[in-house]
Amino acid sequence: MTVVPSHAVGRVAAGVFDSVTDAVGNTPLVRLNRVVDDIRATVYVKLEYLNPGGSVKDRAARGMLLAAEASGELRPGGTVVEATSGNTGLGLAAIAAARGYRSIVVVPDKVSEEKKALLRAHGAEVHVTPGLRPVDHPEHLRSVALRLVEEIPGAWFAGQYDNAANPAAHRATTGPEIWGQTGGRVTHFVAGIGTGGTITGAGEYLKEASGGVVRVIGADPQTSVYGGGDGRIWYVEAVGHFLHPETEADVWPESYHVDVVDRIERIPDAEAIRLLHRIAREEGLLLGGSSGTAIAAALRTARALGPEEVVVVIAPDSGRAYLSKYFSDAWLGALGFPLTTAVTEPTVGDLVGDVDQLAAPVTLPSGLTVAEARQLVHGTEGLPVALQRAAAGPSVVAEILGSVTAATLADAPDGDPVSAHLAAPLPFVGTTEPLRGAVQRIGDHSGPVLITHEGRVVALVDASCLSAGTVEEHGGL
Ligand SMILES: Cc1ncc(COP(=O)(O)O)c(C=O)c1O
Repeated sequence: MTVVPSHAVGRVAAGVFDSVTDAVGNTPLVRLNRVVDDIRATVYVKLEYLNPGGSVKDRAARGMLLAAEASGELRPGGTVVEATSGNTGLGLAAIAAARGYRSIVVVPDKVSEEKKALLRAHGAEVHVTPGLRPVDHPEHLRSVALRLVEEIPGAWFAGQYDNAANPAAHRATTGPEIWGQTGGRVTHFVAGIGTGGTITGAGEYLKEASGGVVRVIGADPQTSVYGGGDGRIWYVEAVGHFLHPETEADVWPESYHVDVVDRIERIPDAEAIRLLHRIAREEGLLLGGSSGTAIAAALRTARALGPEEVVVVIAPDSGRAYLSKYFSDAWLGALGFPLTTAVTEPTVGDLVGDVDQLAAPVTLPSGLTVAEARQLVHGTEGLPVALQRAAAGPSVVAEILGSVTAATLADAPDGDPVSAHLAAPLPFVGTTEPLRGAVQRIGDHSGPVLITHEGRVVALVDASCLSAGTVEEHGGL
């Protein structure tokens, strides 16, 4: 059979493409009808999971790859390398496969298993790097990717954070699509900020097309630096800017033009997650975590608007890649996030009472010396050790590096950093978790157990308190 390229057969029906490269973009806008409650403005979600690689990042991937071919940086037989939390890698792997390139993707270990499996299924080589490394550390994502590029002949580093072709792709596609789809009626554009490519490219286009009418609102995890947070870790993947306490200079991506943003809404993970569950059940849309963050910001924005106004919000990817996280009651419960379904039996939260009244447990900063830690651990059965932070406060569970007990420190030299002598992290149970399930999960563990609420450690109790179903009697708090 002879394959006739579509451009050779004259007029081709809309939606028919020569390759996956051409099938990126032109995603639908779908109106939100139920989670908007009594909001009067129209809110449309742009469903970017309908791109062939499954996310908004297909646009940046295509833009960067085609630009590299055009400039000669990427040549036939070459290797595409990227450091990514997953989606850019998927877009690059899909387009690289179709165009005959090898692809290597470096991801942080917090990336969901589904995403890693998807990358491998697309033929990409996946390198997993440990999380919680400062940007200048040799094991940091970007350092690993750059090292691979040096080692492999013909390798090209996509570098989405600083590649002008990333925002340019959104200026050329996302922005014009939204303008056209709304017939120029869009008044507010809302998007999360990872590399900043989406909000910059589409935001700048929409401002220009509307003569400055369109307001651009960034959606940012509560603790992310972009919105003014302290940079502590959060749980919604792929948006926001984390700041490792040992990072010397906090450099923001060149793909993000700060000036385009009129306002940033700071969204706690729990608000994003609760909304994700509602959107799945009430709108029939299964979306990823950063869509929850973005739509929460869109709803906050729309609440203040009148019926003539039109909000468009980007939903970057699908919930299918996060079934083991934001849609898993086991994952949600252990961290104390809202579950997907209402719980009728007693929960860990019922046992500990009002979390605002709890005294956060002592968490040792990773920078202490063994001698200092010994003083603090004395008289306890063990304490968690978390990433060093200047500003203290309840530790985020993901920041906990391990634990110490008097026994683990017994033979350690006084001057050593405590982080060199850690035992495994203490088990944790979440406030939203059914008590019975939590007790089963920790099994025959005895000694201290951390209680989590919305991803943070809020208390330390003795395991026996959980099985006895009462904290007061055992004085565990
Ligand atoms: C799921 C998801 N949401 C949001 C973003 C942020 O988009 P951008 O990098 O264009 O700012 C990304 C980027 O990787 C993503 O993968």
